[in-house]
Amino acid sequence: MDIQKIGVIGAGQMGNGIAHVMALAGYDVLLNDISQQALDDALSTVRGNMARQAGRGKIGEDEMEAALARISTTLTLADIGKTDLVIEAATERETIKQAIFEDLQPHLLPHTILTSNTSSISITRLASRTDRPERFMGFHFMNPVPVMQLVELIRGIATDEETFSSCKAVVDKLGKTAASAEDFPAFIVNRILMPMINEAVYTLYEGVGNVQSIDQSMKLGANHPMGPLELADFIGLDTCLAIMNVLHDGLADTKYRPCPLLTKYVEAGWLGRKTQRGFYDYRGEMPVPTR
Ligand SMILES: NC(=O)c1ccc[n+]([C@@H]2O[C@H](COP(=O)([O-])OP(=O)(O)OC[C@H]3O[C@@H](n4cnc5c(N)ncnc54)[C@H](O)[C@@H]3O)[C@@H](O)[C@H]2O)c1
Repeated sequence: MDIQKIGVIGAGQMGNGIAHVMALAGYDVLLNDISQQALDDALSTVRGNMARQAGRGKIGEDEMEAALARISTTLTLADIGKTDLVIEAATERETIKQAIFEDLQPHLLPHTILTSNTSSISITRLASRTDRPERFMGFHFMNPVPVMQLVELIRGIATDEETFSSCKAVVDKLGKTAASAEDFPAFIVNRILMPMINEAVYTLYEGVGNVQSIDQSMKLGANHPMGPLELADFIGLDTCLAIMNVLHDGLADTKYRPCPLLTKYVEAGWLGRKTQRGFYDYRGEMPVPTR
């Protein structure tokens, strides 16, 4: 299927990144949100990020202006129905995502493919609430979207081969690499990454190391570019906890139990960089470990 126009629902940190890479690859992008402020912020973020790429010589000024001209915005969800491929990147809450797909359904073209950028919610369950489970799949970008090379493509139980190959062709056109994953809790990347982060929090909780020694050990001893606690702060500790809960509930294995210390940080509202405090305190010039 020839995909030309892409609808992106949710203009937060992932939605603006998805609009950015799609427009640069030559797709027309229609970006939707419930908040005009979010749409305005997304456009200025995309402009700023593209200007940085242009400043480094990664893209030309003309290319940047042409890409920006391919992005339009709407507060009306129905407008998204007239696109070839929808990528839903709204807040990670199943009731919100289900309501979006239900409201969108009457406005869809017969050929429109529906996808979700969810980090953890069952693709099969989301698809089952639509009229086209065979044309529904997971399209999971990594953060930050313009930088990260991988996209996980997740087949629900009903996803057909044409839908998969159409989405794979889009990933190829972006110059990114697709990893195919089956629809089990947290897919591939987060299934492996989150238990490692959770174990790092246990290592801290049990006093085996402190924040600095744990991060330094994994950077220098395992060649990780970021320490696990620093990475958790970047992702958001609430997101890390939500994914551990999905793994624990979905796979019913105690090895996925979230560390009580992770829960305590979330209860404190210390969610990482976005709230300026997590395993590090970001309020000063340099991040300072909080334990
Ligand atoms: N943050 C990450 O590292 C990351 C990585 C991969 C995937 N994801 C997934 O991407 C999705 C979005 O995450 P994010 O980090 O961009 O969140 P975010 O909070 O930055 O953005 C969410 C946006 O969705 C909008 N929204 C909420 N309800 C809506 C509705 N009914 N219709 C349209 N827009 C609506 C909000 O106004 C907000 O602008 C989630 O499913 C998340 O799990 C996040």
